[in-house]
Amino acid sequence: MADAAWDALVAHAAVMRGRTVRELFAAEPDRDRMHVEAAGWYLDYAKHRVNADTLRLLLDLVRARGLQARIEAMFRGEHINVTEDRAVLHVALRMPAGASLVVDGVDVVAEVHRVLGQMSDFASSIRDGRRVGYTGRVIRNVVNIGIGGSDLGPSMAYDALRAYSRRDMQFRFVSNVDGADLLEVVHGLDAAETLFIVSSKTFTTLETLTNARAARAWLLAALGGDEAAVKRHFVAVSTNAEKVAEFGIDTADMFGFWDWVGGRYSLWSAIGLSLMLAIGPDNFRALLAGAHAMDEHFRTAPLDANLPVIMGVLGCWYRDFLDAQTQAVVPYAQVLVKLPSYLQQLEMESNGKSVRADGSPVDAPTGEIVWGTVGTNGQHAYFQLLHQGTALVPIDLIGFDHPQPGHALGNQQDLLVANLIAQAEALAFGTDDPALPPYRVMPGNRPSSALMSSQLTPFALGALIAAYEHKVMTLGTIWGIDSFDQWGVELGKVLAQRVASEIAAPGDAGLAHDASTNALIRRYRGRSS
Ligand code: F6P
Repeated sequence: MADAAWDALVAHAAVMRGRTVRELFAAEPDRDRMHVEAAGWYLDYAKHRVNADTLRLLLDLVRARGLQARIEAMFRGEHINVTEDRAVLHVALRMPAGASLVVDGVDVVAEVHRVLGQMSDFASSIRDGRRVGYTGRVIRNVVNIGIGGSDLGPSMAYDALRAYSRRDMQFRFVSNVDGADLLEVVHGLDAAETLFIVSSKTFTTLETLTNARAARAWLLAALGGDEAAVKRHFVAVSTNAEKVAEFGIDTADMFGFWDWVGGRYSLWSAIGLSLMLAIGPDNFRALLAGAHAMDEHFRTAPLDANLPVIMGVLGCWYRDFLDAQTQAVVPYAQVLVKLPSYLQQLEMESNGKSVRADGSPVDAPTGEIVWGTVGTNGQHAYFQLLHQGTALVPIDLIGFDHPQPGHALGNQQDLLVANLIAQAEALAFGTDDPALPPYRVMPGNRPSSALMSSQLTPFALGALIAAYEHKVMTLGTIWGIDSFDQWGVELGKVLAQRVASEIAAPGDAGLAHDASTNALIRRYRGRSS
């Protein structure tokens, strides 16, 4: 991209490529100043292949790309999702009651709190047994049916916050159109005690609707076939009241949200209903408060002390100037086992784009390939490549000072955190013994961030996820892309519908795909029973 801020980084990167983290620490022994704190999170970015000049130049770039104006535009409700002509207001979902944000004549914060109130009333009525199932039994099982943003958020957050959840209830999540997913999820459940939440913004998604119909059939078969049972055991989270009613769900049991909430930004909306049922309305509001605290930080902190902005510019540095393709995320918390998958959607669906918002092609790499799994398990699997392989992979190491309530076991937290700190050191500095044979040399110079918080509370989780959301926006702004649409997934959806009807059609006429696709369809049609 031909501009002064970009060109300055290209020139600076030519110098920095030859400098190691070890050399950077020798030149700047006070690199422990390279940290930033926000909403209870401490980000140590000292072990990155950057110095003060790098940071200054990266911040010049985000300034030149107008990040602050774009943040303000988002908070004002402007249609920054240009390809869908929509506002982007997940930040409104966590604004406190009494705040106001008027968009197109409607106070969206008041609307948000109206739905939060409806969710809280419903969750409380299930949790305290006032609202019962068709046969009068108390609801003990909650199954969320959704996919993508209508699944990953609540299922990730439920795992993360299970320590705060109702232990006498079961919470399960179905997403895949593979029948094995639904069948395994309902296995062993008593239909009379089971509530299904059909979560779909559009209420047209093939996987979700197919699973919802199959779940309805399972329920009716178990409860005697009276359609009235559906209304007692199914509720919906959607923006599409017509389709919800068509399915047979009472629209009084529909929890709405709005077109300005993108699927992957919807955990904070009614899409979080299953999570609220698990952890209760107060803990859900604490999650929102954590996200709001990070929002305020993102909006008001100077760029050089702005945690999500620092995360974003580091991502840009590696992706665009040091040729990294991937970003690993390694939480040292077993309960964050689904965080990498959640962040895959957030980052890759948002920034996996090759045209700018104005339709022109990008001329620099965009989109990080996000992957990872929990530490310490990853250390015994793929960390070998991180330490001695040829790929440059920046890593986020995420950890906590204290275990969650009920999760303390001997000195295990100390061992967990010791591993996080030790890995960051080993990755950065490697070995320093010239007598070692080559295969034992750890070259070091492998960058990582340490993201630490006191404890994985609902507040801390909310703040962490919001930090990643704003990292994504920072990157999207640098790249000039629309981080809030997802046109790339549409073609596959359309073709899947077409192939499904061709698989179901008798005979071989009319297959008009390429030779390979036609052969695959014929082969599957001809499978032996
Ligand atoms: O496949 C893309 C996508 O549109 C995601 O962005 C979204 O989270 C998911 O599908 C589910 O969509 P819906 O909530 O409308 O069922």
